[in-house]
Amino acid sequence: MSAEFVTCFLLLVPSAAVVLDVNITIGQQWATLPCTLMTETPTRLEDLLFYWQDEGRNVLYSYYKGNVMSEHVNRLYRGRITAFPQGMTAGDISVKLKNPTLEDEGRVFQAVAAVYNSGGMRRYSFEPREICQITLHVAVPYNSVSVAVNEEATTAVCTAQRGFPEALLRWRVQDLHNNSQYFIDPRDVKTTAVQSSQDRLYSLNSTINIPGGRYRSVSCLIHNPTLNVTDSDTYVLNKGERSLPDWSAGLTAALVLLVSALQ
Ligand SMILES: *[C@@H]1O[C@H](CO)[C@@H](O)[C@H](O)[C@H]1NC(C)=O
Ligand SMILES: *[C@@H]1O[C@H](CO)[C@@H](O)[C@H](O)[C@H]1NC(C)=O
Ligand SMILES: *[C@@H]1O[C@H](CO)[C@@H](O)[C@H](O)[C@H]1NC(C)=O
Ligand SMILES: *[C@@H]1O[C@H](CO)[C@@H](O)[C@H](O)[C@H]1NC(C)=O
Repeated sequence: MSAEFVTCFLLLVPSAAVVLDVNITIGQQWATLPCTLMTETPTRLEDLLFYWQDEGRNVLYSYYKGNVMSEHVNRLYRGRITAFPQGMTAGDISVKLKNPTLEDEGRVFQAVAAVYNSGGMRRYSFEPREICQITLHVAVPYNSVSVAVNEEATTAVCTAQRGFPEALLRWRVQDLHNNSQYFIDPRDVKTTAVQSSQDRLYSLNSTINIPGGRYRSVSCLIHNPTLNVTDSDTYVLNKGERSLPDWSAGLTAALVLLVSALQ
């Protein structure tokens, strides 16, 4: 590592960095960590210096006066990081991380940059400082959200399998008599979340009581906070016993017609 590069690690000017969340779905090929260096004039690549590191100070990417310093890169990130060279003179020091996994979940990445002052009195035209701080959130969508109802035991059970992070589960019911919809009070819901120690994925299991004759339908809603999406499943109650299905009325009418035609 060159002496100047080491200096840059040590003499950071404290400053308010841009703080951002980047939320991605697992299986996405790249996660872009966006960052722009704001300078008044275009930057000559020979004057530009920047690096990205994680919260454990492992270096992802290092750029020094026109050269990519791959020897500084921690093996966690070797072969996984690409920058955007065509945008660098305009201050685009974003990088992208290949094949993000749950191992990368929650990592906090920092970009530190400086611009040397070629020929001027001062050493830097942009003092070394942290300019971006990005927290990466990796999500795994839940699969097979489903409601099962045991009408004899008057319970409904909702299950959702293998997602990340832990989802927020809510029950919405539709009143049988006035059709209004509302959420069940969380105190009347019993939800268990189990996290696999192997792959960190959560599975949820939730039970509510559904007294007979009160609800037209029950829906289970699963919200993934990282993806900001909600999946749901709805079970319609009272299909058989309490009200005759539509086809039976039609069948009765047809039989009446048939009987009167035969007479
Ligand atoms: C519908 O009925 C339920 C239960 O009887 C009641 O709590 C709710 O306030 C009613 N909603 C409306 C809009 O009338
Ligand atoms: C959900 O919980 C119930 C009771 O706690 C249990 O019997 C059932 O096997 C669980 N189902 C799943 C899919 O975990
Ligand atoms: C990104 O994920 C975090 C963590 O789950 C969440 O707090 C935040 O609201 C998410 N941002 C967006 C825009 O959905
Ligand atoms: C989540 O999405 C809703 C719209 O579906 C939006 O109103 C809300 O602001 C979003 N939340 C975040 C944290 O981005």
